Amino acid sequence: MNYFLAIIGGGPAGYTAAELASKAGKDVILFEQSSLGGTCLNVGCIPTKSLLYGAKQYYNATHAQRYGVTAENVNFDFAAMQKRKTIVVRKLVAGIKQRLNNEHCTIVTGAASVVSRTDEKVTITCNGESYEAENLLICTGSTNFVPPIPGIKDNPAIWNSTAALETKELPSSLVIIGGGVIGMEFATLYSELGISVTVIEALPRILATLDESISNYLTPVYTKRGVNILTSSKVTAIEGNNVTLDNGETLSAERILVCVGRRANISGLEALADLEYNRGAIVVDDFMRTNLPNVYAAGDVTGKIMLAHVASRQAEVAIGRMLKQIPVQRIAYNAIPSVVYTNPEVACVGISEDALEGCEAHTLPMTFSGRFMAENEGETGSCKVVINTKSRSIMGVHMVGNPCSEFIAAASFAVRMGYTIPEFMQVVFPHPTVSEILRETIAECK
Ligand code: NAI
Repeated sequence: MNYFLAIIGGGPAGYTAAELASKAGKDVILFEQSSLGGTCLNVGCIPTKSLLYGAKQYYNATHAQRYGVTAENVNFDFAAMQKRKTIVVRKLVAGIKQRLNNEHCTIVTGAASVVSRTDEKVTITCNGESYEAENLLICTGSTNFVPPIPGIKDNPAIWNSTAALETKELPSSLVIIGGGVIGMEFATLYSELGISVTVIEALPRILATLDESISNYLTPVYTKRGVNILTSSKVTAIEGNNVTLDNGETLSAERILVCVGRRANISGLEALADLEYNRGAIVVDDFMRTNLPNVYAAGDVTGKIMLAHVASRQAEVAIGRMLKQIPVQRIAYNAIPSVVYTNPEVACVGISEDALEGCEAHTLPMTFSGRFMAENEGETGSCKVVINTKSRSIMGVHMVGNPCSEFIAAASFAVRMGYTIPEFMQVVFPHPTVSEILRETIAECK
């Protein structure tokens, strides 16, 4: 059978594209070597959030005195947390499979490789069978980067994020190399479960890609909680359970978690000899087209912003282009929200204060929200809004404080649509909600 579209990879990019193209009546074949849902669903976003929720329940129960509640003999069952996580993941994977089956999308379990390509068709092999399609969408994702630190290879003390998620035994102590998004989420999980955690970050601050207000807020919060944060520190060598830093200091821990970024998965694509790459990722335009006609790519493999919601939006754009849909869609990278599930959580969209000339920033503590005050004893949080000084349009929002992940979408909407302050102020926010802090801060920008 000749398919309209072959998709390699069944993560958020792949399964979104498969469902959309199948719904449009096209014959689609999707190859996935492991489990549908990709990194996000199986060993990323969803399992971490399941475990983090359990850890937060435990942490809140043991810190409930601030709300006038005392609980004795509070305990947690890590095996039960893991079991629940597995059930959540399984149900969601089954849901994706069901949706694709409903749309009569062909799913092949196995590692696919491209055999050849012409402008008319792409030939793919998987499990010894050959398949042909008019178009190819590459959604092969990314894997943990292993830095060339001496002593890291074949060291049983080393964990990557998958091992840190799937462990049955909690370590007594954990050193995390990399204070980025993954590093800080695991620092949250393990410290809330009472494990001694040290974060080693090469740059001068944790979460260095986010607005500085975020790390300025979180660093003392985590330090007070007992997390040892070492910034401007590089790991030069690892020997067994010992980590040596560039200042000569040595730290020891039962486990050493390495999370220093991810790299695009490009194996199986060797036959596409002319495919253009940039720093190991596939180059795409705003419509997710590669330099080869009839070959598209979406998700982490494009090396753009490695987030599941970016991947699924890229997939929508790719399918829109393939099907020549009107209006033509393109992805707006200036309005991509990002959330970090620390406690308190972080949510950002758009540019940072110092990223663009001609902008100004206004900040309010989250305590301006009555609901925040009622539910976040001992926290102040913060909401920073960046606006264009001339046009008065909203360019960025950077928040820390629970539950800002739940209303960053309102800020994304404003940034994406280019709303000015007076336009935004016409929107009424429900009271009492923490989301009101967004409107309050924007009102300050007048
Ligand atoms: P990252 O790029 O966010 O952070 C890696 C950190 O490691 C950087 O701050 C870097 O300076 C530091 N580093 C590198 N080499 C080092 C060394 N030798 N010693 C000490 N520090 C070193 O990468 P991360 O955290 O691995 O995340 C990978 C991707 O996954 C990111 O694109 C992230 O956005 C995404 N992700 C998103 C999540 C979310 O949206 N909640 C959750 C988890 C991952």
